Amino acid sequence: MASSLYCLKFVYLLSFLSTIHLAAVPSFSFVQPLCHGHERSYLLQFKESFAIINNNKSISFDPSAYPKVASWTLEGNNSDCCSWDGVECDKSNGHVIGLDLNSSYLYGSINSSSSLFNLVHLQRLNLADNHFNHSQIPFTVSNLSKLTYLNLSNSTFSGQIPLEFSQLSHMSSLDLSYNHLEIKNPSLGRLVENLTCLENLDLSLVNIISIVPNMLANLSSLTSLRLYDCKLHGEFPVGIFKLPNLRVLNVRKNKGLTGYLPDFQWKSPLEEMILASTSFSGKLPATIGNLSSLTVIDMYKCNFSGFIPSSLGNLKHLNFLDLSYNTFEGHVPSSFGNLIQLSFLYLSQNELTGPIPFELENLTQLTGLFLYFNNITGQIPFGLMNLTKLSILDLAGNYLTGQIPNSIFNLENLEFLDLSSNDFTAKVEFDKFVKLKKLTSLYLSDCGVSLIIGETSDNTTLQKFKNLGFGGCNLSKFPDFLANQDELTWLDLETNNIHGQVPEWFWNVSKENLEVVILSYNFLTSLGQHPILLPWTRLAILDLRSNKLQGTLPIPSFSTLQYLVSNNSFTGKIPELICNMSSLQVLDLSINNLSGSLPQCLHNFGDSLLVLDIQRNTFEGSIPQAWTSGSKLMMINFNQNKFQGWLPRSLAKCIMLKALDFSNNQFHDTFPTWLGNLPNLKLLILRSNKFYGPIRTHKAKYKFPSLQIFDLSYNSFTGSLPLKFFQYSNSSRLESAKELTYIQVTSTFHMQNSLQNYLWNFEYSYAMIMINKGVVTDYEKVQELFTALDFSSNRFTGDIPKSIGNLNLKGLRLLNLSNNFLTGHIPQSLRNFVNLESLDISQNKLFGEIPQQLTQLTFLESFNVSHNHLVGPIPQGKQFNTFPSNSFEGNPGLCGSPLTKKCESYEVSLPSPTTPEKSKDLGSPFQFGWKIVLIGYGFGLVVGVIIGQAVSARNHDWLMKTFGMRKLVR
Ligand SMILES: *[C@@H]1O[C@H](CO)[C@@H](O)[C@H](O)[C@H]1NC(C)=O
Ligand SMILES: *[C@@H]1O[C@H](CO)[C@@H](O)[C@H](O)[C@H]1NC(C)=O
Ligand SMILES: *[C@@H]1O[C@H](CO)[C@@H](O)[C@H](O)[C@H]1NC(C)=O
Repeated sequence: MASSLYCLKFVYLLSFLSTIHLAAVPSFSFVQPLCHGHERSYLLQFKESFAIINNNKSISFDPSAYPKVASWTLEGNNSDCCSWDGVECDKSNGHVIGLDLNSSYLYGSINSSSSLFNLVHLQRLNLADNHFNHSQIPFTVSNLSKLTYLNLSNSTFSGQIPLEFSQLSHMSSLDLSYNHLEIKNPSLGRLVENLTCLENLDLSLVNIISIVPNMLANLSSLTSLRLYDCKLHGEFPVGIFKLPNLRVLNVRKNKGLTGYLPDFQWKSPLEEMILASTSFSGKLPATIGNLSSLTVIDMYKCNFSGFIPSSLGNLKHLNFLDLSYNTFEGHVPSSFGNLIQLSFLYLSQNELTGPIPFELENLTQLTGLFLYFNNITGQIPFGLMNLTKLSILDLAGNYLTGQIPNSIFNLENLEFLDLSSNDFTAKVEFDKFVKLKKLTSLYLSDCGVSLIIGETSDNTTLQKFKNLGFGGCNLSKFPDFLANQDELTWLDLETNNIHGQVPEWFWNVSKENLEVVILSYNFLTSLGQHPILLPWTRLAILDLRSNKLQGTLPIPSFSTLQYLVSNNSFTGKIPELICNMSSLQVLDLSINNLSGSLPQCLHNFGDSLLVLDIQRNTFEGSIPQAWTSGSKLMMINFNQNKFQGWLPRSLAKCIMLKALDFSNNQFHDTFPTWLGNLPNLKLLILRSNKFYGPIRTHKAKYKFPSLQIFDLSYNSFTGSLPLKFFQYSNSSRLESAKELTYIQVTSTFHMQNSLQNYLWNFEYSYAMIMINKGVVTDYEKVQELFTALDFSSNRFTGDIPKSIGNLNLKGLRLLNLSNNFLTGHIPQSLRNFVNLESLDISQNKLFGEIPQQLTQLTFLESFNVSHNHLVGPIPQGKQFNTFPSNSFEGNPGLCGSPLTKKCESYEVSLPSPTTPEKSKDLGSPFQFGWKIVLIGYGFGLVVGVIIGQAVSARNHDWLMKTFGMRKLVR
């Protein structure tokens, strides 16, 4: 029944309270003081139940806050409660019908017996921005049955929203956002099913943790629905888009929420469509262009794909358009030239191609243009100079070519310009940028720009830069103008031709403000005169990698997050001062000449450390003993030092560990079975140490559930091969093989700019050395799916288990069992390792034949069975036609190509009874001419190699390599 008949049309006046001042006019006897005595005492009791904590930001946040109830007093001529600040009375009967106490510094609990709930005539109640000390919302709220407006936002309420809310059937505007509330039982659907008058509903930050109930689509009066960050999941009811009065829809930040956009074949007053950070997916329908009232579209970080419909260009009122961080493809529609009201256009991090449409020059209101991380080609359109309001232009990470058009140097409001990682071919004078007086962030790294910094750049009148990215800009010295830049926070001079010593003045640059200093990949030989503790007090990142720096190691600020000095010639010990770096996340001292023993503090740094890489130095002694639980360490690399002794058992407490490399030291210990509980350990390398004894794999407790790269080579392990670790089916091990990602750790650095917040994700990739195909191979990055076992050069005995191919090692690329005492046959199940590239089982005591099935390993590039007791014909065809004779030598019983020994005599002998599996594959389909096969499978091999290269080519992508992916936080 038409319950909406009872809806009181309510217009909320921002200051409906300040107007009611019926000053007492006692001379007219027919004018009674409005206020009812009992309501006045309810109000006073309510006031008394709180502390008023004036000027405390944690009670009331709004700068205009003041204690309204201070005026509530019986003293003086003030007993008319209708005249009190924040109180509104009905003019005809004097009842209190409105109470606006938002931002009033009220602090204290509120419970069901609060006198507030005796004010039964209340229609409007606003208690937002106070501090109710985690009270539950009392169920007696249902006494206020006339309420049409209720705002309790941001006032520190907690707990479940009571069912009694469902009785407030006149409710038109309900704002419970920004508390610690939850809606579990009753559910959101039950709470609002009878609130048929609802126009505005804001439950942002309420923990709803459920699907969005379909019945919301029945609330036909709804004009705004805000469900920001409610932990919603499931499919969003498409009917909500059809609500005839809906103007604002905000479901931002509900990652579990899926949904799609319907075909908008209807007229809609929708003005704001905010779906950012949800899992909405699919294409944008062309009919989105019918939503002609839209001013805001925010689809940041959803799963949308397909082309951007050009009909978006019909939305003439659009002021804010964010389609960034999706997988849109195709061109930027030229129809965007019609969006003449647009202030912000975000298209970053998609797969957009084609040029920047010149029509964008029409967008004269544009303040920010973000196209970074796409595949945009062509030149920067000259007409961009019309965008006189533009203050942020971010074109980083594309394939833009040509010159930097002079038009850019006319954008006099430009504050932030990022052109890094593009393909320009340009020489540009720094003076041109300097003329843009508001420009404070300039990123030109790796974009093909050679920067000419003239001696004449006037140091003293230059603007104060905040961020300068000059990596790969062909600089041959430290730019002198830096000496006067005292507001600089970010300085990147990576990959230039800067030689020699760091000038002394450099240590005084922006001492209070510098947060990031990147000098890596230059030719610096000395840091010159500097204190051991560098003077930059806020330094968060210091990157000196790949120079020729000598001398002792400096300590950056104690607050530093990332300290990277690999590939230099630093000598001496690690200064004990390093123990004061209590926020350190990444410590990379690898490939230097550092020596001495490690400071005992190295193990935790206040538990912030994620990466500890000290490989290839000459450190000695034992490694720190006291590793603690709570550690966040994910990668430890001790490779190639002179460490001795036992591995500390406490390492098992570092449960986040992904990679652990002890190789090339003198550790003397048994196998660390006790690491087998580390749930994420993917990589364990013990190569070339003095590990000894059998490896017990039977203890069900220790399973190494994620192990993929397992190198035990060059030790003295005995007993049978430790393959049982891989017999447990572990879904994480299989899942990880899906994506072409690398074993890496992300260290995040939050940087605030006057214009933007950036979350820089530094992706620190694990680098390792393994012996692959007989060659010592440096892996700069390791693919997540890379799987390798190297048990070579030990004293393992027994068989290679027949079922080896059934182990949970589907991605196995490299298997090396050579130089052990293994006996028995080569198992034909090895053919299950379809990705195998290298198989070395040489120098054992294997007998029998080489299984024909191994020819099915189409990626096999290297194969070695030499020096065993194998007999019979060498399988022919496919990859086997590419292996040289030394792959087979030292097996007098083998015959056939590539060996010179012919097989005629062998064919008459019967198959050995010990290889019954073989017979069923005789006459396999792979007996056609070997030339064709060679071409076919040779190609397969090439593809493998190309894939490998395509992946490693990304190493050279600037932003990936140095900074990883950059994320914009708004
Ligand atoms: C809520 O209050 C806190 C401080 O008490 C403030 O930081 C925050 O911005 C406020 N949120 C909203 C949405 O007003
Ligand atoms: C809503 O109203 C219907 C009909 O009056 C009633 O049966 C139902 O219990 C109400 N729901 C809630 C949650 O109060
Ligand atoms: C530029 O905007 C005008 C409206 O001001 C419009 O008529 C014109 O078509 C637009 N030009 C382009 C190239 O989009």
